Amino acid sequence: MKLNIAVLPGDGIGPEVTKQAKKVLEAVAHQFNHTFIFKEALVGAVAIDKTGEPFPQETMDLCLKTDAVLFGAIGDPKYDNDPSAKVRPEQGLLKMRKDLGLFTNIRPVKAFEQLLDKSPLKKEIIKGADLTIYRELTGGIYFGEKKISKDGKTASDLGEYSAYEIERIAHAAFKAAQVRRKKLTLVDKANVLESSRLWRKVVTEIAKEYKDVELHYLFVDNAAMQMILNPTQFDVILTDNLFGDIISDEASVIGGSIGLLASASIGEKHAVFEPIHGSYPQATGKGIANPIASILSAAMLLEHFGLNEEAAVIHKAVDKSLELKISTPDILPDSKITTSKVGDFIADYIHYPEDTNMNY
Ligand code: IPM
Ligand code: MN
Repeated sequence: MKLNIAVLPGDGIGPEVTKQAKKVLEAVAHQFNHTFIFKEALVGAVAIDKTGEPFPQETMDLCLKTDAVLFGAIGDPKYDNDPSAKVRPEQGLLKMRKDLGLFTNIRPVKAFEQLLDKSPLKKEIIKGADLTIYRELTGGIYFGEKKISKDGKTASDLGEYSAYEIERIAHAAFKAAQVRRKKLTLVDKANVLESSRLWRKVVTEIAKEYKDVELHYLFVDNAAMQMILNPTQFDVILTDNLFGDIISDEASVIGGSIGLLASASIGEKHAVFEPIHGSYPQATGKGIANPIASILSAAMLLEHFGLNEEAAVIHKAVDKSLELKISTPDILPDSKITTSKVGDFIADYIHYPEDTNMNY
């Protein structure tokens, strides 16, 4: 298969981890006789520095003409404590999601058998946890009208959803549940919010088309508690943009490190694959960032194009790296193994799966 892949490394550790994902995709291309053509473009704070825009038109044009986008991370501390900044790196990510129509964000969370004792949660609680969050990504309070009064003392963000926006992601989530454990939990705040009541109504109606899937409802405050009390109860979680953002960071605790969580953002025409972690500026250039989230995002990219065997090979190599403790310090506190070495191991393992005595 021939795939054109836009690579948007972005800020902080984005370039380092994306480089490893690319390395791994190259190993897959070589092993399975595929052609992956990579083209890089600017996004985030680095794009603001060079062009004044967090998501320049040139980057958009590249994304429009490629088959998929591999995204690194965005964010720079120089913007975080400056509420008056007119342009922010995050706007680049939001613009990309909106303009490419990436309404379905898929975030799989798993307790890795090899890392059960890395989570601050008890082993018995997380063992076997395997859930996927379907987060709506182009609507809700993130994109509603924003206002600030003239005196700067009152501000508001409108959290609006249309039935159509809910329907399209709901179908995707039900379909995912059908090929998993057939349980879908809608997470909302329907006891308070009108928009959540619309979610319940629409999703309940759609459930009739998926009779083999059991539909559950959970208020987001309770869901936040259940996530760490009993995460194995969840299969597919469907939720809006803001709640999905919050519970997915919480869910990452199950995996033992946010450096392991991948995601796919899918629309009708375009798809972007990105780790859920941020730009981790304190780690930039130190070689301590975990590249696995980015590498597993590349595996999701392959799955998106039906290259399931190829994706499985990446998963196997990642599992092996964890088993052999070829890991960065977020997983092994005193580890001297760098971001790039983890990438090398995973790529080499794809090339030579029998040879696990390599020196890293
Ligand atoms: C995420 C991030 C983004 C979000 C930020 C960087 C805008 O936290 O992808 O979860 O809030 O969606
Ligand atoms: Mn987030």
